[in-house]
Amino acid sequence: MQQDALKRAAAQEAAKLVPDGAIIGVGTGSTVNFFIDELKRLKHRLEGAVASSVATEQRLKEAGLRVVDLNSVDELPLYVDGADEVTRHLTMIKGGGGALTREKIVAAVAKKFVCIADKSKLVDVLGKFPLPLEVIPMARSFVARQLARLGGIPQLRQGFVTDNGNVILDVRGLTILDPPALESELNQIPGVVTNGIFARRPADLLLLATEQGVQHMG
Ligand code: 5RP
Repeated sequence: MQQDALKRAAAQEAAKLVPDGAIIGVGTGSTVNFFIDELKRLKHRLEGAVASSVATEQRLKEAGLRVVDLNSVDELPLYVDGADEVTRHLTMIKGGGGALTREKIVAAVAKKFVCIADKSKLVDVLGKFPLPLEVIPMARSFVARQLARLGGIPQLRQGFVTDNGNVILDVRGLTILDPPALESELNQIPGVVTNGIFARRPADLLLLATEQGVQHMG
């Protein structure tokens, strides 16, 4: 089965979890784009959606969905997003698309975080995928030096500015044996806005698409 067919299968499974009359959170990326296709079909019974990026906001609007500011909602029953890597413990690396900060915020508000992914995203240990960090531009070199001290090999994502006006450092070479601990440690470096480890608030459910069907994990 092609990877896109698996992504669509995971997205279709997530669409079954969308509650009637709700405002839900919507992540960013190619897997989520399949989910937005499904939402287009469900829009008559959806109150609205909170977008985790400008790209998702545009796509939701094109699909005819009402986009709601996060500040105007107290809670979100559901947040659906993809991942670059995900473990059986539902910890993730996210931020391949550079939307990690808003994704982490929306995930924090959501009651239930559903990760949708094709089987290629499942790993035993996080860290093969370069870990993205959103960084305040003036702190870029300082943060890079701190990351090198921790054994990482940071690289500036060329020609990329986040929706919040910051830069992304992609870090190779980190062995992430204790994801919540490293997530906290990286957040302590001045200038780091967000790092792409999602472990302190992991997903609640992983919908993992395989050729044998979509597995529910968690
Ligand atoms: C964006 C993300 C995405 O969820 C992640 O990159 C997965 O994307 P895709 O579904 O295209 O593989 O974290 O910041």
